[in-house]
Amino acid sequence: MNDATRRGLAELSLSFERRYGATPLLFRAPGRVNLIGEHTDYNDGFVLPAALDLATFVAIAPRTDRLIKVHSANLDRSFTFDLDVAQERRRDWSDYVRGVAVELGATGHRLPGADIAIWSTLPMGSGLSASAALEVAVGYALMSVAGEPIDRLELAKASQSAENAFVGMRCGIMDQYISCHGIEGCALLLDCRSLEATPIRIDSRARIVVANTMVHHQLAGSAYNERRLDCEQAVAILYKAIDGVAALRDIDTAQLEMHAHLLPGRIARRARHVVTENARTLEMAAALEAGALETSGRLMNASHASLRDDYEVSCPELDLMVDLARGAPGAYGARMTGGGFGGCVVSLVEATAAESFAARVAPAYEKETGLAPVIFSCFPAAGAGSVAI
Ligand code: GLA
Repeated sequence: MNDATRRGLAELSLSFERRYGATPLLFRAPGRVNLIGEHTDYNDGFVLPAALDLATFVAIAPRTDRLIKVHSANLDRSFTFDLDVAQERRRDWSDYVRGVAVELGATGHRLPGADIAIWSTLPMGSGLSASAALEVAVGYALMSVAGEPIDRLELAKASQSAENAFVGMRCGIMDQYISCHGIEGCALLLDCRSLEATPIRIDSRARIVVANTMVHHQLAGSAYNERRLDCEQAVAILYKAIDGVAALRDIDTAQLEMHAHLLPGRIARRARHVVTENARTLEMAAALEAGALETSGRLMNASHASLRDDYEVSCPELDLMVDLARGAPGAYGARMTGGGFGGCVVSLVEATAAESFAARVAPAYEKETGLAPVIFSCFPAAGAGSVAI
């Protein structure tokens, strides 16, 4: 934790005491950057995310009644709800909080009422999973004050359900899983079917650099759900032609080529992205483990092309940032990360060139778009937990 975060947390704790008159316990849940394996999680496939040191922090103290009182320090907004009253979707940030309380309640946890204050160092809507971090941080804090042992997988699933059912975004499990299970210094190769993860240590000769395009196109939510439907349509057709196909995960590139004529053009392109992306993800995990940084970079570049051309979830700002990143000295490769339509680009950069990377890329991006990007190197962090200041 850096000094600015430590100061912010001290301020969160103080303002909690002023607001609620009690000393809080503190918890954090990280955002994530996905190195490769995009739009594969809801196809039972493979992903390779790392938890960030940017996180959402929750200050909490239990109450004797069943009210949950919440204040967001970032938004300077508050709301209250009653755990004993059925909750409805409000289409604002409170949905993430109410959703996770409802989902944990539905899985049999008896949560106490609580006073809560939230503060985040994650930019909202930038594709770094600020929403998953919010769900997981609140869920972790509520389970802790309930005195319940924390089952990280159950918390990840309850947080994902909150987003699916309450927010209406049919996201996969990746963001909530990595926020719960992150390991310092490592990305996790996650099999989204078995939910088994293998830590992949990031080579000390390389840095993961994130560049925020500072755009977020409105399309994101609805287009995401449309992509899921396209994948489901592909499976519904391929399942009749190939034995044992329950998800696009079950098809390899040779099988897809052989049966692609059965699929309408757009659906075939969506399926090709997912099938090739699964293969690239396994290949990149192996390449990173072997220290093959050039190969890793090449796979990231191929992933971006597939997301742009076949899956159609990129946008001009992401494509521009990717081009500039690849042109910077010491860059192995770059791609969009997260759901798409804005947000961030992730690059793999030679450690010695990481400093000069931002100085090279940022002015060029700003010159073309008029937007000042935020660019930073990240060291993979641990998953959710309690914090002491
Ligand atoms: C969003 C979703 C994830 C995943 C990515 C795309 O971040 O929350 O579940 O599908 O998009 O890889």
